[in-house]
Amino acid sequence: MDKIVINGGKPLKGSVKISGAKNAVLPIMAAALLVDGITHVRRVPNLRDTRTMIKLLEMIGAKVKFKNGDLTIDARGKINPVAPYELVKTMRASFYVLGPLVSRCGEAKVSMPGGCAWGPRPVDYHINGLKKLSAKIELEGGYIVARAKRLIGTTIRFDYPSVGATGNIVMAAVTAEGQTKIENAAREPEIVQLCEFLKAMGADISGIGTTDIIINGVDISELTAVEIDVIPDRIEAGTFLIAGAALGEITVQDVIPEHLDSVIDKLRETGAIVSSTSSDVTVRKPDIIKPVDMTTAVYPGFATDLQAQWIALMTIAAGSSVITDTVYHDRFSHIPELIRLGAQIDVENNVASVTGVKELKGAPVMSTDIRASASLIIGALIAEGKTDISRVYHIDRGYENIEEKFRSLGADMWRESE
Ligand code: UD1
Repeated sequence: MDKIVINGGKPLKGSVKISGAKNAVLPIMAAALLVDGITHVRRVPNLRDTRTMIKLLEMIGAKVKFKNGDLTIDARGKINPVAPYELVKTMRASFYVLGPLVSRCGEAKVSMPGGCAWGPRPVDYHINGLKKLSAKIELEGGYIVARAKRLIGTTIRFDYPSVGATGNIVMAAVTAEGQTKIENAAREPEIVQLCEFLKAMGADISGIGTTDIIINGVDISELTAVEIDVIPDRIEAGTFLIAGAALGEITVQDVIPEHLDSVIDKLRETGAIVSSTSSDVTVRKPDIIKPVDMTTAVYPGFATDLQAQWIALMTIAAGSSVITDTVYHDRFSHIPELIRLGAQIDVENNVASVTGVKELKGAPVMSTDIRASASLIIGALIAEGKTDISRVYHIDRGYENIEEKFRSLGADMWRESE
């Protein structure tokens, strides 16, 4: 297993090109199964998760080519609508194939994802949504088996605007008979892009980017394969901006600045100087980092996927801050590790109280999930001395070339085999 070693306490300066968004490309790859044709996807990040999705598409029967960020998915011919436990357990987003497979094949067998490092993460909205679309659902040996000759449109209201359930139900409803209305739908840019992609394929979708998405079902034969450029990864960009506010001056390039509004607003509250052009955002560390409370929320609120990184920044703020995660109540596995670096943090339920300290000090730590790893990297870059971060395979799930990117900014950071 690899570890990342960081000699911290060094300023960072420079520009970094942001990759395509993991959370946008995964549902797009699943949606390619809807069409009996060849889909081209550009700006695809080379991540463990995208490679897992490729493996899954191949097991389902698609022919996939991936080179230099260009992905072609040939889903012509026979499809085997099964997503096995071995893959789904390593990546929950595999569950995205459920909607398109039912739609394309009239039935699908997809493993239940199970728990994860930050809580139970149920899939009940996905399943209840499909039931409302008239699918017959059974649980067989840990697999969801969904059957429907053709789904039938209806109104589905989510109790919470789940990203995954919105994506799955939209993909299922695209070819349902009649109209489907999703109320309290997710508005994340990744869902917006999925809907735009489906529209380009021939789907009839309106209300994209609002809480009410309306889908008028089309016959599956009307869908055609298209090309798409994946949007930039706002979470990767946010991670580098937070690192910049802690450590120097960083420009993130090729981003959509409005996707970063919530993090930019919070960075400005710390005293950091932030400026942007139409495609770049630059942050400069303030002399004194002011403590800033933060509560995660659905888009356009502050992303839960940047909560761990925000806490890393707050560990060296001049005072106390309170960070609340309303999306995932149990997503704090980075905290005991940041404490190993000298941070002062108390957690109660879904609230972390951080008391800023003058400095962090290097220590061996362990990463537990993608964003916790990013938080530890920021913590280690701040910390004086050497930090070993073990189990870095988590970071490779969601960040492309992370050491190269930080090294280009001046970080003293490398990878070793343990
Ligand atoms: C997606 C992102 C993940 C991000 C999360 C929240 C992908 C691949 N992953 O995950 O990085 O942290 O959005 O922005 O895009 N819920 C239920 N029942 C369900 C579904 C969700 O109760 O059937 C709850 C969850 O437990 C959680 C909340 O809804 O508390 C939000 O989850 P959701 O938006 O579905 O997250 P994911 O799509 O899994």
